[in-house]
Amino acid sequence: MADRQRIEFYRHSLGDAEKARVLAALDGMILTTGDAVAEAERALADYLGGPEVVCVDSCTAALHLALLTNNIGPGDEVIVPAMTFVATANAVLMAGATPVFADVEPDTGLLTVETIAPRVTPRTKAIIPVHLYGLLCDMEALSAFAAARNLVVIEDSAHCVEARRGRVRPGSHGRCACLSFYATKNITCGEGGALVTRDPALARRVRRLSLHGMTTSAAERYAKRYRHWDVGELGWKYNLDNIRASLLLPQVGKMDSHCARRRKIAARYDEAFAAVDGIDVMNVRNPAWSARHLYTVCVNAAGRDDMLVDLQEQGIGVAVNYRAVHLLQYFRRLFGFRRGDLPAAESIGDRTISLPLYSKLTDEQVEQVIQATTDTVFGYERRSAVALAR
Ligand SMILES: Cc1ncc(COP(=O)(O)O)c(C=O)c1O
Repeated sequence: MADRQRIEFYRHSLGDAEKARVLAALDGMILTTGDAVAEAERALADYLGGPEVVCVDSCTAALHLALLTNNIGPGDEVIVPAMTFVATANAVLMAGATPVFADVEPDTGLLTVETIAPRVTPRTKAIIPVHLYGLLCDMEALSAFAAARNLVVIEDSAHCVEARRGRVRPGSHGRCACLSFYATKNITCGEGGALVTRDPALARRVRRLSLHGMTTSAAERYAKRYRHWDVGELGWKYNLDNIRASLLLPQVGKMDSHCARRRKIAARYDEAFAAVDGIDVMNVRNPAWSARHLYTVCVNAAGRDDMLVDLQEQGIGVAVNYRAVHLLQYFRRLFGFRRGDLPAAESIGDRTISLPLYSKLTDEQVEQVIQATTDTVFGYERRSAVALAR
């Protein structure tokens, strides 16, 4: 494919509006948490239909603070999916609690009541459903299940800000929802995150704990009459600054149009791959339920790693989201997991390949990705058939 341009796995769509906001922030006096952060919080809250939003410096920090402010710690168990990014489980360990991995629904990769139920013990305090790849979990069923057992629901919404599933949106049903603005996310400031909640008292506590537990922020101390600050409880250094918040602000208004473009690309991928033996696409059940953050296909496990190389050699950027977390070395050592323990998560982890999906992709590039993926899978299947026939 020498005549073709390389298609990156991800490209952000930051442009003149974002640059102008950052320059304006640099001209201001407060570079750390201040007006731009407050404005980004209001814009996100409006977008999500009015909950409280506290910006922090990562989704991992938001998950950590969500657990701490719900009094989850040593001796408590928190159910997390085995198919997610490692941050979901790490945040539980950071809070001093124990992550208990549950398997996922094979065709969506999501936690369900059926996969969670066998993992509940008298020590279970919370569940963290992950809206994997952008698809909202069935939050109505999960919250009813949790409410009946007095469990806290914390949504890992790193992949999903835009989707709706009936009345469900990120943060509408969980006690907290945690967003990510990491470098490859649907809206990004390089590194950043937010905690969403409908409880103003919880939001105030999260805000304090995101800055050492201090009772006033730097902006409040300098912009207004000086007040001594105090510390009522131990906090962390998780606050977001005005510079990164300024990058976020113009993007909030563009989230829906970018999501619409990703949905269109995903629909084209779905249509093209439906006809290809050897490619299974993840089920989103209803396109409106997914923010379409990542487009992952499943291929033959034995050939997956070679196919990743093959696609890269054809100039297509790819990723693996994710290998099953319980089989990563650290978690195997900590909990003694073995292959076969959580088969659906392992099967996705062994077979998945993520293809480029972002609003800047042109229709022509989408067709190139389809062609390269189809050729790669056909090539592998043909070589396997020949090897088998020998
Ligand atoms: C599902 C999931 N949860 C949590 C995170 C952590 O996000 P952050 O990098 O903002 O801490 C990520 C980031 O990639 C993620 O994909």
